[in-house]
Amino acid sequence: MTSKQTLLRGRVLSFTAEPQGADDTSAYEFIEDGALLVADGMILAKGSYDALAPQAAEAEVIDHRPSILMAGFIDTHLHFPQVQVIASWGSQLLEWLNNYTFPEETRFADAGHSAEMAGHFFDLLTSHGTTTAVAYCSVHKTSAEAYFDEAARRNMRMIGGKVLMDRNAPEGLLDTPVSGYDDTKELIAKYHGKGRGLYAITPRFAITSTPDQMEMAGALVKEHPDCYVQTHLSENHDEIAFTAELYPQARDYLDVYQSYGLLTPKMLLGHSIHLQPREIDALAETKAKPVFCPTSNLFLGSGLFDDAGLRSRGITNAIATDIGAGTSYSMLQTLNEGYKVLQLQNQKLHPLRAFHWITRGNAVALGLEGKIGTLEAGTEADIVVLDSRATHAMELRMQRAGTLSEELFILQTLGDDRSIAQTYVAGKPMKPAA
Ligand code: GUN
Ligand code: FE
Repeated sequence: MTSKQTLLRGRVLSFTAEPQGADDTSAYEFIEDGALLVADGMILAKGSYDALAPQAAEAEVIDHRPSILMAGFIDTHLHFPQVQVIASWGSQLLEWLNNYTFPEETRFADAGHSAEMAGHFFDLLTSHGTTTAVAYCSVHKTSAEAYFDEAARRNMRMIGGKVLMDRNAPEGLLDTPVSGYDDTKELIAKYHGKGRGLYAITPRFAITSTPDQMEMAGALVKEHPDCYVQTHLSENHDEIAFTAELYPQARDYLDVYQSYGLLTPKMLLGHSIHLQPREIDALAETKAKPVFCPTSNLFLGSGLFDDAGLRSRGITNAIATDIGAGTSYSMLQTLNEGYKVLQLQNQKLHPLRAFHWITRGNAVALGLEGKIGTLEAGTEADIVVLDSRATHAMELRMQRAGTLSEELFILQTLGDDRSIAQTYVAGKPMKPAA
């Protein structure tokens, strides 16, 4: 039996490496009249429309011209239980957590609430072109179950985990070292490597875990070396000072995680803004991945991520929204703000590197570039369709755009969910056809 094939026609853009500058055409393939042959959730072939059309006589053809077909976006750090926290006024990190975030997250003890919010969360991801995300769930096992069950229902490649937190938060938001360990083990058994799901062991941050819990987290990492690990690092000065009080023996903030054996190439460290030289050395040595969260860092007034400084040490930086401290689900808007954060430091974010970052670059940070983040044959058919003329302002500006780089820069500066003409998850369109 031959399965149903779809031929997506459009302007195909796929990266093979990180572009090293404006003229680095070796890092990507751009096919002006291109096509992708898709079946069973996979990309079977990428090429020019003329080359692929004869092989695909049975396929349904969907013509997306003049939109750009690109790999679905990857968001490497955000918080599922913060869909109703985004856009909360007036405070910096610790006050924001205590006043807005923690009270809201207590509601995810309820399975019905978790399931309802999971539906909204996944709708928002795909309507903004994001097909893979790495999320923090709440402390409650129910929230992680709702997250992974909804991801499986939509056949999305999603990474996540319940947060481990056993102090410095309200009663309804605390586990214990043992219950956190047991719940995490159960969730790993149920969801890690099942379908497209992958688990991230998630000690929230040093402030909300006792040394006993950090030790349990270290044991989990040792017992499950194929799982991801995620946490927050050096986002805010008050956070750093409180961490030093709680862990007086640690050489610095990162040493809290390092001394419990959490640092591996599969570790994602949200923010990583105010780092000491020793911490940067440790990141370079362990190949743990800092995550740049520009809209969040601006919104909470946290600080400026030193992308160029870390890159010059051979460190691979990921990029993410950090919803709900982040202010947009859109990875395009994340690039827009990221560009400005780097401008303030006289660093540059070229649009070719920018679009590589939110696709193949984040896939590389996750070690998943063989599965997602490109449009290569044999990879999973997570695809975004980008309309560079989606708004009046974009249409007008596009009249003066002559190159692919200019068009991409217009998309990253002015684009958002209005520019997402379609999102395919494992070959399936998430929006009704227009
Ligand atoms: N640090 C610990 N928890 C959080 C969170 O939920 N959001 C942000 N931005 N930082 C954190
Ligand atoms: Fe975060």
